[in-house]
Amino acid sequence: LLQIPKSSSFSFRCANYYGSLLQASTVCLGTGPSGDVYVPFRDLLPMVHPNDIVFDGWDISSLNLAEAMRRAEVLEWPLQEQLWPHMEKMKPRPSIYIPEFIAANQEERADNVLRGSMAQQVEQIRRDIRDFKESSGVDKVIVLWTANTERFCDIVPGLNDTADNLLRAIERGLEVSPSTLFAVASILEGCAYINGSPQNTFVPGAVELAAQRRVFIGGDDFKSGQTKLKSVLVDFLVGAGLKTKSIVSYNHLGNNDGKNLSAPQQFRSKEISKSNVVDDTVQANPVLYGPQDKPDHCVVIKYVPYVGDSKRALDEYTSEIMMGGTNTIVIHNTCEDSLLASPIILDLAILTELCQRISFCTEADPEFQGFHSVLSILAFLCKAPLVPEGSPVVNALFRQRSCIENILRACLGLPPQNHMLLEHKMQRPSPKRSCPGGATCPLVPKKSPVAAPAQLNG
Ligand SMILES: NC(=O)c1ccc[n+]([C@@H]2O[C@H](COP(=O)([O-])OP(=O)(O)OC[C@H]3O[C@@H](n4cnc5c(N)ncnc54)[C@H](O)[C@@H]3O)[C@@H](O)[C@H]2O)c1
Repeated sequence: LLQIPKSSSFSFRCANYYGSLLQASTVCLGTGPSGDVYVPFRDLLPMVHPNDIVFDGWDISSLNLAEAMRRAEVLEWPLQEQLWPHMEKMKPRPSIYIPEFIAANQEERADNVLRGSMAQQVEQIRRDIRDFKESSGVDKVIVLWTANTERFCDIVPGLNDTADNLLRAIERGLEVSPSTLFAVASILEGCAYINGSPQNTFVPGAVELAAQRRVFIGGDDFKSGQTKLKSVLVDFLVGAGLKTKSIVSYNHLGNNDGKNLSAPQQFRSKEISKSNVVDDTVQANPVLYGPQDKPDHCVVIKYVPYVGDSKRALDEYTSEIMMGGTNTIVIHNTCEDSLLASPIILDLAILTELCQRISFCTEADPEFQGFHSVLSILAFLCKAPLVPEGSPVVNALFRQRSCIENILRACLGLPPQNHMLLEHKMQRPSPKRSCPGGATCPLVPKKSPVAAPAQLNG
């Protein structure tokens, strides 16, 4: 483990994975004779450990990762010095750059770009993926878009509405965003692809291609700071019966993401991604909200270079309470942007890999199957969750967490966690059941809703 000197003292901190759902949080397996039994999420099922992941990637900027680390000014200098020899060996591969998709202020970084037709560039990305797989010896490759926010693409019939049309558009060099080109390259290589940015990378043609090739796709936009808090807070307010009427969010940040988002079209992508996060919570409460009724919701993002990666998120939530009163909550959240996003990136890759090994059946359909190619279980980690067409979008954070937890429990043959704790709420003492080994077991439902335990392959 690296020893991390704190700048203000002589004490040391050890490297950790704080902020990772899988590495740093626990789940309750059940209740044993001496109380609740918690295990780390990562120990529920066999999962890849982040230390075993091999990284490679592309960037339109040619800096090696040590130089990029210095430019980003996220890590303290003594830590940078320790990391330098490891990072400087890593150099990004040249990438696809189409200037109109990101802010013009990014142009000066673009000195590491592929040339040739659009189809040739996609072919090169596919070769890169194969080359990485072969030279690193990894079993699987999962590709994440962690590059700049792009502007939205129009969905145009004949261009990107079907898989065939999208592939034809690439052949003809028509309007396809770099993030979608990467998606197509990954899907054609059979690699899961996750979009960590807000734009609509997954145009209908890309979604159809993923379904045809049975490759997982997931996104959109890492849920790291303000939106995560919002998806908890509004759930709490509306769930508690308070009628939230106004949500106003100001952000200012000074990293390169902020610089890119200072351009109107890229900001618009972020605004859209952040705006729907309370919809499901509001719609779930017709007692408070009529069909057309929803809170005013405003999001502002400003570029302030001085604060660097230390993004400030200021939120005001105003709710109506009894007898014409109002309740106003104001929050000032300092979000170390990159350090909050990094464990989410690891969780996305590890959870996706795990899902590739899960198959299950139901009473209605006893033949085993895998998950839908749109991997909506990743919603906990995404601001604007991508779901299969027609599926409900769940934004509330703890519902999203329960989804992951209960699916993993089902793989173990455990019933879903329902938090009823009925055994502690009875007039008469709860009947104890004997377990093998003499321990007592808590009350469990007679039948799990999953007809047969899920299977884990590999
Ligand atoms: N907390 C967070 O950091 C957070 C949270 C949610 C979403 N996001 C999203 O993640 C993305 C990355 O954020 P960031 O802070 O790391 O931004 P960044 O600007 O620091 O890094 C993006 C990198 O992508 C590179 N790039 C741009 N276009 C590229 C292309 N076509 N191919 C390859 N590389 C390209 C840039 O040169 C840059 O090095 C943004 O879309 C951001 O909105 C970040």
